[in-house]
Amino acid sequence: MATETRRIQRSPRKLTASASIAPQGDNSLSSLDAILNAALQLGAEKVAGWSPEEFRLVEQLERVRIPVVELREMIRSGADPLGDAYCQIRGSEERRGLGQTYTPPAIVQSMMSWAHSEVKPARIIDPGSGSGRFSVAAGRAFPRAQLRASDIDPVATIMTRGSLAAAGYAQRSVVTLGDYRELSVDPIKGKTLYVGNPPYVRHHQIDPVWKQWLIDTATRRGHSVSALAGLHAYFFLATAEHGSPGDVGAFITSSEWLDVNYGSLIRDLLLDGLGGLGVHVLDADAAPFADAATTGVITTFKMGSRPSSIRLRRVKSVGDLGTLGGGHLVSRSRLSEARRWTPFIRTSPKLPAGWIELGELCRVHRGAVTGANATWVTDSGSNDLPEKVLYPTVTRARELFAAGAALSSPDSLRIVIDIPTDLDVFDSDERKEIARFLRRAKQEGAADGYVARARRAWWAVGLRQPAPILATYMARRPPTFVRNLADARHINVAHGLYPREPLDDAVLNELARSLRSSVVVGQGRTYAGGLTKFEPREMERVPVPSLEMLKAAV
Ligand SMILES: C[S@@+](CC[C@H](N)C(=O)[O-])C[C@H]1O[C@@H](n2cnc3c(N)ncnc32)[C@H](O)[C@@H]1O
Repeated sequence: MATETRRIQRSPRKLTASASIAPQGDNSLSSLDAILNAALQLGAEKVAGWSPEEFRLVEQLERVRIPVVELREMIRSGADPLGDAYCQIRGSEERRGLGQTYTPPAIVQSMMSWAHSEVKPARIIDPGSGSGRFSVAAGRAFPRAQLRASDIDPVATIMTRGSLAAAGYAQRSVVTLGDYRELSVDPIKGKTLYVGNPPYVRHHQIDPVWKQWLIDTATRRGHSVSALAGLHAYFFLATAEHGSPGDVGAFITSSEWLDVNYGSLIRDLLLDGLGGLGVHVLDADAAPFADAATTGVITTFKMGSRPSSIRLRRVKSVGDLGTLGGGHLVSRSRLSEARRWTPFIRTSPKLPAGWIELGELCRVHRGAVTGANATWVTDSGSNDLPEKVLYPTVTRARELFAAGAALSSPDSLRIVIDIPTDLDVFDSDERKEIARFLRRAKQEGAADGYVARARRAWWAVGLRQPAPILATYMARRPPTFVRNLADARHINVAHGLYPREPLDDAVLNELARSLRSSVVVGQGRTYAGGLTKFEPREMERVPVPSLEMLKAAV
């Protein structure tokens, strides 16, 4: 199974000659030999979990004395001299194969501060530990916790051992060389904190055996998954597998999973099982990683929960991360419906205190497209069809502008003919009327258009249920929001606002009133000529008072 592990085990790293090791008194670590020697002299052997592969590596090593007093001091004061030297010696190109991009200390610190406010862990697991930045910081933040680090690269595990020993945490640390997906995680009394920077390795470099593991494991957990997923998705899944309810986690990764198809596994896990708490996206300009041109996102989670909402936030710089607070709550229903999550990450304008996005309260749906209004939109009383296929419908935006606060009667509306797919629901007289109408409609070409051909039955327009609030969405003026007291349907000249939870009339009136008075043209997308358009998802982002505020206002 551990193909990537085996590759490393079969070809142990050839260490370079130790000729370049700095003379006594100089702390520069200018070769892998020097780093490994330093790790050993810092006390790496005292950290449990040594593997045969690491022993072999050390046996091949030409032992030289490195002055480590200063290195130890540096590690104790929060620096990572072994990791820094490693990144200098092995160029970013060389480190790419195993996704070895180390995390800047300011990010490690933010994640640790968040963890400190969230949990008192009995154990910390650092998946893909590199030189042990997260493990050492966790040891400092949680002086009583067990530390468990794992990496697939023996140089990394020996560096982690050295750093942990130097920091004084050898007695409570175990470091495991191997694949994180295969890490054996014993049950423990108390909570485990999973914290780290899962490797970013693209799917082309992932072994088919592991791709099968991904598919089998995700499917068993009820998630669909794409084999195009990168290695960080495997780490999220493995964490869901290793963890127990109540365990918490914080991972920094590149942010592409928020929006791409193959990121859906991570999004689904956060909504179900991994218990997403927060998603903190660093602006692309923040360049979170010194040697990889990638955007970063920190994801926090609490396992076992199905969160009712997740906090989403964008920050301009690493310095703005703070303790990973803030952001705005987006409900699970909106997140689970969406194929991309970045549109939820608001930069500006900020929501006024107590306000939420309309999408938290209502789904916004465009009306049906008839494909041929000349056939399907008609004036009332102008055809011989059963009443039950004739629906008073908003078919022109001006009908909503004219209605003011409420559309109280269907009388002025035109009729849309909406015949169900299954004609067996009609009696024989009705069937005759419908057959006559459909023959005529076919002669008019109503069955031939693109829209009609895409329907299950070419005649079934498929109007949505009446929406309690109807909105215009394209005009040279702000949209209007109208209470629909006439049970009118709507076609694609309008959007319908459908509450996620039942809302009473007074709240709906207040919501529509608030929207009429607050939504301005600038919130939509303006086209040449000054036409402003709100797509349904854009309209869901319009700020509205929270449900509590709406209730208080009625
Ligand atoms: C992005 S680096 C993070 C290193 C360190 N935790 C930090 O944040 O500075 C990811 C690490 O995962 C390791 N890695 C890659 N594939 C792995 C696997 N399948 N199992 C465990 N570790 C792996 C790499 O060797 C690398 O050290």
